[in-house]
Amino acid sequence: GSLNAKFVSHGKKFWASAADQGTINIASNQALLKADFGGVTPENSMKWDATEPNRGQFNFAGSDFLVNWATTNGKLIRGHTLVWHSQLPSWVSQISDKNTLTSVIQTHISNVAGRYKGKLYGMSTSLKNEILNEDGSLRSSVFSNVLGQQFVNIAFTAARAADSTAKLYINDYNLDSNNAKVQGMIRVVNSVNSGGKLIDGIGTQTHLSAGQAGGVQAAITALAGTGCEIAITELDIAGASASDYETVAKACLNTAACVRRVPSQLGFITSWGVADVNSWRASSNPLLFDNNYQPKAAYNGLLSIM
Ligand code: G3I
Repeated sequence: GSLNAKFVSHGKKFWASAADQGTINIASNQALLKADFGGVTPENSMKWDATEPNRGQFNFAGSDFLVNWATTNGKLIRGHTLVWHSQLPSWVSQISDKNTLTSVIQTHISNVAGRYKGKLYGMSTSLKNEILNEDGSLRSSVFSNVLGQQFVNIAFTAARAADSTAKLYINDYNLDSNNAKVQGMIRVVNSVNSGGKLIDGIGTQTHLSAGQAGGVQAAITALAGTGCEIAITELDIAGASASDYETVAKACLNTAACVRRVPSQLGFITSWGVADVNSWRASSNPLLFDNNYQPKAAYNGLLSIM
């Protein structure tokens, strides 16, 4: 059976991959997406610089391609990402007025999330991406500098209004052991959710170094203490050893919030791409398929443990 089929047999929704028009149009890559993965996340096409390069001027060519391909091929879709300090057009980073920035965030989210209303599981990886520093404090960005932590509430409230069925995720990297950043994430999520649940899920990107997988279980368990569902949203591991991949998969399989806790909670893992040749970390060979789109030891290892 395929990677996704094995994963689903454990009560999971899907094992997904990042994709976009460029990688979908590579025949060998598309064949693997169809055979082994149950869902996709837009690697770049749904980001702010792609969808609203100028204020009020929207471009959905790339994200429509991804969403149409996924729909035609029966793949679930996680959105990525509505508000992020990176790949952000300069017209946004220049705003210094609170009311203007609030309205700009609301307009962006209502247009992007509204366009794909009802089609996304999680406007997620992430509605809000990478808001924390390594010590768990709020990262400096135009959003936090102008609006403080309130920008998180503004963004999630706008997303809920635009698509009431999408699971709303907050997403970050280096949440790979029960560290200060994990504690910062827990603090922000509990604070934002204290007036009513706005954040449904926490995405942990899980871009790992070789041998770093051992802390993942403790991190996921701590994050699940918020009552949110947990997803591994951008998995890749330098060197891609079978044991590192198996450790991460087991951490998700072993954790109620990362498996299905109630029917509305659907645990899953997203690989940040299919084959090493197209990875943002290509030189560290971090994915499950090699430069020739052949399965690696980690792929076979995962099939053997699931
Ligand atoms: O589209 C332009 C193209 O027109 C231009 O000719 C070319 C020249 O460099 O650049 C192209 O844009 C690139 C874009 O990917 C699309 O391919 C950017 O340079 C490149 O920086 C961008 O990299 C993406 C990166 O996010 C940007 O921060 C990676 O593909 C993408 O995998 C990566 O994904 C992020 C997640 O969204 C969030 N978490 C971290 C993760 C890794 O950085």
